[in-house]
Amino acid sequence: MSTVAVRLVRLVRAHGRGFARGGAYDAGTPAAARVIDAEQLEEVFVRLRAAVEIPAEPACGDRPQVAPVGLRADQVYPARKIAPGTESARLREQETRETLIERYSAALWIDSSAGQRARRVLLRALCKSFGNGVRIGLGVLVLHPHTFEIGDAVFLGSQAFFQGRHDGRCVIGAHSWIGPQAYFDCRDLELGEYVGWGPGAKVLGSEHTGEPADVPIIQTDLVIKPVRVGAGADIGVNAVLLPGATIGEGAIIGANAVVTRDQVIPPYAIAAGIPARVQRSRRDPIA
Ligand SMILES: CC(C)(COP(=O)(O)OP(=O)(O)OC[C@H]1O[C@@H](n2cnc3c(N)ncnc32)[C@H](O)[C@@H]1OP(=O)(O)O)[C@@H](O)C(=O)NCCC(=O)NCCS
Repeated sequence: MSTVAVRLVRLVRAHGRGFARGGAYDAGTPAAARVIDAEQLEEVFVRLRAAVEIPAEPACGDRPQVAPVGLRADQVYPARKIAPGTESARLREQETRETLIERYSAALWIDSSAGQRARRVLLRALCKSFGNGVRIGLGVLVLHPHTFEIGDAVFLGSQAFFQGRHDGRCVIGAHSWIGPQAYFDCRDLELGEYVGWGPGAKVLGSEHTGEPADVPIIQTDLVIKPVRVGAGADIGVNAVLLPGATIGEGAIIGANAVVTRDQVIPPYAIAAGIPARVQRSRRDPIA
């Protein structure tokens, strides 16, 4: 086995995901490890290294290669707020959207500080706006990232899934904490600052009208409704917010609750159950 392949094997073993003794590992499909030959392994290593090691600023005249076909990311996305001169700004200017998404995918499951950094740098290049100090866990998927505005110090837990839409809008306020395996329908979603989002909690932002009744429901019109979560609110583990839900500032939604369509939970309320019912206000003195 070549030196590169040996390094890859060590790297993968060090991360301990799905690696069978005597086998090799395709870093591009971590969920389905498969045996591949040494030549493929070298190629995988090069891809892996490209994903982890974001190159330093190129020397003058040493322009990194731009994919020969397709638009550059700065031609795809409108002007956005990232500081000029950063790695992300450079990537956004010089790489295609497809390339950035591929590189983000390659870094999805790299469980190291370098992997986390690669995800951050690449997602910053892809998003509409992106704050400082954002942490991104393993396997976080963001579809249509150009519609996302992510604030400072946001934490995105592992395997959180953000279902964006090409013409949607998703704002995640600064310092918000998103638990692992959360699901977000991000067609029209705003989370305020310091929102806590329990593991596995979900938001649905659209539903089919179901009319007329003789047409399959998934073929009837889709109605998109805004979902808003106020600053400092806390959404319990496995809770569900349905289209049009509004959660007031500082409110708590209980574990496993279902906030039904168009329901409004007042600021500082504690609501739980299915359907969610307000139990008390956090501002009431405890008896
Ligand atoms: C809803 C919640 C905030 C209530 O906390 P609390 O104000 O301390 O209330 P209590 O534990 O005293 O329970 C009050 C009543 O609500 C009920 N209750 C509590 N949590 C409930 C829930 N998730 N669903 C339904 N009922 C619930 C209790 O059984 C109790 O009922 P009772 O008066 O008939 O005995 C809390 O139980 C909860 O679910 N927190 C979510 C935590 C979480 O997932 N955080 C995310 C981590 S990132």
